[in-house]
Amino acid sequence: MTSNNMDYITIALPKGKLFGLSADLLAKVGYTAEDLSEKSRKLVITNEEKKIKFIISKTADVPTYVEYGAADIGIIGKDVLLESGMDVYELLDLGFGRCHLMMAVHKDHKRPKLTDYAHTRVATKFPHIAEKFFNSKGMQMEYIKLNGSIELGPIVGLSESIVDIVETGTTLRENNLEEIAYIMDATARLICNRVSFKLKFDRIHQLTEDLKQILELAKEEKL
Ligand code: PRP
Repeated sequence: MTSNNMDYITIALPKGKLFGLSADLLAKVGYTAEDLSEKSRKLVITNEEKKIKFIISKTADVPTYVEYGAADIGIIGKDVLLESGMDVYELLDLGFGRCHLMMAVHKDHKRPKLTDYAHTRVATKFPHIAEKFFNSKGMQMEYIKLNGSIELGPIVGLSESIVDIVETGTTLRENNLEEIAYIMDATARLICNRVSFKLKFDRIHQLTEDLKQILELAKEEKL
């Protein structure tokens, strides 16, 4: 299935930290719409003149809209994309939203070695990524899926550790947690439905190239 109207390009944007940066970047290549705001109660915001529809969705759902073709393209963090296991094209690393996934524990309950945590509980929004990581270390764990405020896990005794993203490190610091293992880096990615990529190739290709150019310019300005 692809986005219902061939004349339109439908873009899924995540609410939250990536929304503003995504909307700003798209605006630079002319992809914008009046009233495009994550606060909007409107679920689809359309730019009739440019034939663009924006879907504003929960972050974790962006890959789903794109895989099923309800959106042609989307912007999402690599962490969420990998966790979703969705089969989409990854067109571009947008570079922003940089963070990394890691394992952390309470400072007062550190054990000497990583493997000393085997068979303990780990709270996370990313059970698939976490399981892959611990399997690679030969560790079996008990996974507790949370949907936010993961850092609470070890504080209230729900879990021994967490697997979560770190951006500035403030949340870990303010909650007396300490990173003990690095898992992976993540940045925002432009993703595309596999069928849309073929059916709307010209438009999607042009958008990708325009975004690449903007990102290159931004990089040069920083140098
Ligand atoms: C994320 C993540 C950490 C925090 C890390 O949570 O789960 O809690 O950001 O950022 P920092 O290193 O800059 O402190 P988010 O704000 O997305 O909300 P959530 O806890 O509800 O998932």
